[in-house]
Amino acid sequence: MSILVTGGAGYIGSHICVELLEAGYDVVVVDNLSNSSEKALERVEEITGKKTKFYNADIRDKSAMNYIFENEEIEAVMHLAGLKAVGESVSKPLEYYDNNISGTLSLCYAMRKHGVKDIIFSSSATVYGEPKQMPITEETEKGICTNPYGWTKWMIEEILIDLHTSDNSWNVVILRYFNPVGAHKSGKIGEDPKGIPNNLTPYITQVAIGKLEKLGVFGDDYDTHDGTGVRDYIHVVDLAKGHVSALNKLQEKEGVSVYNLGTGVGYSVLDVLKGFEKATGKEIPYEVKPRRVGDIAMSYCEATKAKEEMGWEAQKGIDEMCEDSWRWQQANPEGYDTEK
Ligand code: NAD
Ligand code: UFG
Repeated sequence: MSILVTGGAGYIGSHICVELLEAGYDVVVVDNLSNSSEKALERVEEITGKKTKFYNADIRDKSAMNYIFENEEIEAVMHLAGLKAVGESVSKPLEYYDNNISGTLSLCYAMRKHGVKDIIFSSSATVYGEPKQMPITEETEKGICTNPYGWTKWMIEEILIDLHTSDNSWNVVILRYFNPVGAHKSGKIGEDPKGIPNNLTPYITQVAIGKLEKLGVFGDDYDTHDGTGVRDYIHVVDLAKGHVSALNKLQEKEGVSVYNLGTGVGYSVLDVLKGFEKATGKEIPYEVKPRRVGDIAMSYCEATKAKEEMGWEAQKGIDEMCEDSWRWQQANPEGYDTEK
């Protein structure tokens, strides 16, 4: 029996593949490589000494999905495949709704047809919108999303809950990630954004390596300890281990469960910048810019539910996140594709 990881060649997916293989699971990956490289899976094999079975396919392709379920013995699905760039989703709403929502529907049709009804979904803290209180718990109400990407996560959660309501043999674990950063210790896999990064940590590492001139800090007048935005950064390896714990939880067949995956600690943009200055031994130039539209001042979670119910908690702190991101960036200055 295997675990199907949709989007398994991506940043988080490749780290999940490592943890699953190391925990003794067989892994099948489906990915259309729209935002990733097959090299990530070769690196997963270098790290673990084990192979994943790879299907280069779009999850919206129903016949391809049926083919996978017919040919593999899938026991559960980790569903990561999706488009994830917040800004791009505002300019391409149809593409985002189509890819993320239609993709999920097509996946769930294939799962139902083949009697596979255990799914772990990659959701996001973005579904909380702009919460009135910190820390964010799983009881915090879902909010108003500021972009189509966020709404796709919001809606997919509802779709999976409805599926369970219609047929309680479905088991769903919804994982709401906070801000995944860092890379595998080996420096072999990590985040490989196309073009100029939107997210903070790949932007900083590209400044540190000299590809970008300086970091723009989006606002220093928030109501936070130093005025810059605060987030709950979580090491991607901790996040990946959280999925292995969620798989055990899924086996308890409890219907729908929701967990925040974060550390419970908030760091500001300037805290992260300092962390990278320490890790790289370099001064990282920055300039304060206006606030970015759609950003919130603070987002960090209460991480106790995952600890109590899944026995999982994040182990790695900000120093390790910065050191590991930097190791990956240095070893792969052009990401996976040297010709980029
Ligand atoms: P990523 O872009 O590196 O990985 C997503 C993968 O899905 C890519 O390999 C891409 O090629 C693939 N994909 C996209 N559409 C597909 C389709 N229709 N068919 C098959 N494959 C498809 O992104 P990531 O950072 O690894 O994120 C993984 C998941 O976690 C996403 O669902 C994302 O929304 C969610 N998430 C990410 C973050 C974050 O900050 N990185 C935060 C919260 C949630
Ligand atoms: N920031 C800068 N300069 C940059 C990039 C970011 O100052 O060049 C700041 C932002 O204003 C914010 C913080 O750094 O205060 C983090 O920004 P990111 O873009 O790295 O992350 P976000 O919190 O905006 O969003 C991320 C993912 C979303 C996901 C959300 C919650 O990109 O997909 O976390 O999980 F929904």
